[in-house]
Amino acid sequence: MTDSKPTDHATFPTIDNDADAICNTSDNAEFASVLAKRLGRREMLQGTVGIGLAAATGLFATPSADAQNAYADANGAAALRRQRLTYDFTAVPVSRKDQVVVPDGYTAKAFLPAGTPITGSYPPYLPDGSNTGAEVEQQVGQHHDGMHYFPLAPGAIGNRAGLLCVNHEYVQQDTLLPNGPTVSGGKRTVEDEVRKEIAAHGVSVVEIFRDSRSREWQVAKSRYNRRITGATPMEITGPVRGSKWVQTKYSPAGTRVRGTLNNCAHGHTPWDTYLTCEENWSGYFVNKASPQPREHARFGVATTAGRYRWEDIPGDAYERFNATPIAGATAAQDYRNEPSGFGWVVEIDPFAQRSTPRKRTALGRFAHEGAWFAPATPGRPLVVYMGDDSQNEYIYKFVTQERYRPGQTDGSCLDEGTLYVARFNDDGSGDWLALDYANAGFRAAAAARNVVFESQADVLVNTRLAADVVGATKMDRPEWATVHPITGEVYFTLTNNSSRAAGTTNSANPRGPNPYGHIIRWRELAQRSDALRFNWDLFALAGPEADSAILGATGASVPSLDASNVFASPDGLWIDQFGTLWIQTDMSGSQLTGGPFGNNAMLVADPDTGLIKRFFTGVAGCEVTGVVSTPSGRTLFANLQHPGEQGALLPGSKWSSSWPDGGTSRPRSAIVVVTKDDGGIVGT
Ligand code: FEO
Ligand code: CA
Ligand code: CA
Repeated sequence: MTDSKPTDHATFPTIDNDADAICNTSDNAEFASVLAKRLGRREMLQGTVGIGLAAATGLFATPSADAQNAYADANGAAALRRQRLTYDFTAVPVSRKDQVVVPDGYTAKAFLPAGTPITGSYPPYLPDGSNTGAEVEQQVGQHHDGMHYFPLAPGAIGNRAGLLCVNHEYVQQDTLLPNGPTVSGGKRTVEDEVRKEIAAHGVSVVEIFRDSRSREWQVAKSRYNRRITGATPMEITGPVRGSKWVQTKYSPAGTRVRGTLNNCAHGHTPWDTYLTCEENWSGYFVNKASPQPREHARFGVATTAGRYRWEDIPGDAYERFNATPIAGATAAQDYRNEPSGFGWVVEIDPFAQRSTPRKRTALGRFAHEGAWFAPATPGRPLVVYMGDDSQNEYIYKFVTQERYRPGQTDGSCLDEGTLYVARFNDDGSGDWLALDYANAGFRAAAAARNVVFESQADVLVNTRLAADVVGATKMDRPEWATVHPITGEVYFTLTNNSSRAAGTTNSANPRGPNPYGHIIRWRELAQRSDALRFNWDLFALAGPEADSAILGATGASVPSLDASNVFASPDGLWIDQFGTLWIQTDMSGSQLTGGPFGNNAMLVADPDTGLIKRFFTGVAGCEVTGVVSTPSGRTLFANLQHPGEQGALLPGSKWSSSWPDGGTSRPRSAIVVVTKDDGGIVGT
């Protein structure tokens, strides 16, 4: 820290939201070693990606148009039948500018930056960080991440007016507060600073419309607008509701909890509600007891102080972040169980401003990135794909007990069903392994590892441990998934894994550690999303030209990435309504500042041909995350999170970015609205 802060201000170390201490000490197979076995010794020894790889990994071909159409019809998705788009824009070059760059013929504008007033008395944003906690509770939060656009009407109106739900993953105290956190005697002392930090987390629900004269998107003063924060009361639903693991002083019955934290990616349901997912929540809590219980230790609950030290502030609203048991107290008299109220998928009804968000515990507890539905088929169970973004953690899916009935099915279907974890086999097949206390095989697998579960609630609170015992495959940090709206094929980013042992490298994944990440995909058996088996393949290995491959490319050879598309650390992912695959990157540290990749970016890909082109480059220090469009595809929204986070680079500023306000302003996370100047579909 080179800036001159008053001496009573903290000099806490920089908080790395991607910090993911390895908590998985199980002996399950590393994904790299699975790949090594699949791809054979020849490629491993070559150390480069060769043509032979295509044959080795080409486990399924592009489905015939008939098969696609049959699936589309069966899913009621005929309207989404793929249009053959051409991606004619000129790829933008790698950029290190502090501005958004889009191809010629496109326009990009910042929208809804952190601090934008959206509800209550609409308090204006104060650029020196002096807004109060109460004001921030009425403004857009910080660090935009996953988001969804709900059109407010069918047809053309829905392209001009909708509800945006935007996640706010975490906060940056140096931009949120005037001078960073105040610390006295080693403790945080200013309650309103902490209230403000909690308020800048969570979700913004905001009605937006495109003004017909200016053609600019604007905030509507709407009854739907709402801030959900790290303090908003929520219901716990599903098998964990009312169990001993979530009993607290606030909710002795174990049915309620305050707030949602570290809301990373998202999902949206077939009944038009929003899912927000709790990712790196564990560090917000401290438990100084040694040893910690397994439901803390396996997730990395802090041992000396919480991430922002909210627990320092007196009062029940803040002391709850200290999960150290109080001597002589019961679980209903302290907050030893507060961390078990987090790590869930939370359902929000954006169309009911007073509705209570629900933590859907049947979907498991881990570092949830997002929750993505397979195409919903009437009469069939619903399927949700999820990843646990931490080194060597797992990929999951949830299958509802209820069969989908359009117009009747609601969120209660997420309270009953089966949670599965993925095992990727050497031969390109895969298995979904049930984490189900009622399943004798599951209980036997646990017993074989000397692990005892008391109930399904216990299994779910300890989801990672349950996945360990069934032998799930450790992955390279699962980030976003996306499901093809017609084929049901699932794509998943594995962003990177610095902790993979060198001995597990191979030519298809020649990174031990793996700094660049890759994209995996699979297709469920018989194209039924609730199948228990699947076939998997790799779509792309990210990295520099000499260390990358587009394995999903059509043609006789496997191309490497080149100047038009080189990228690393894929994170956000979305197959849009036209079948276009959007890839967003989240590089950090030296990869961002010193590599060949430039600023984080968003690329367009064609899942059928393997074409990949850089469409958009973000500003200095930002991550590009969160993407959605209007139904017409003619307005695209994408988020820039934590611009300027890489530190002091601009003269006279302690940040590397002043986006979007310019000059010497503090940087702010915001949406970028992208349109094509000829009014066409964005990305084409
Ligand atoms: Fe919040 Fe895994 O990204
Ligand atoms: Ca992410
Ligand atoms: Ca990431």
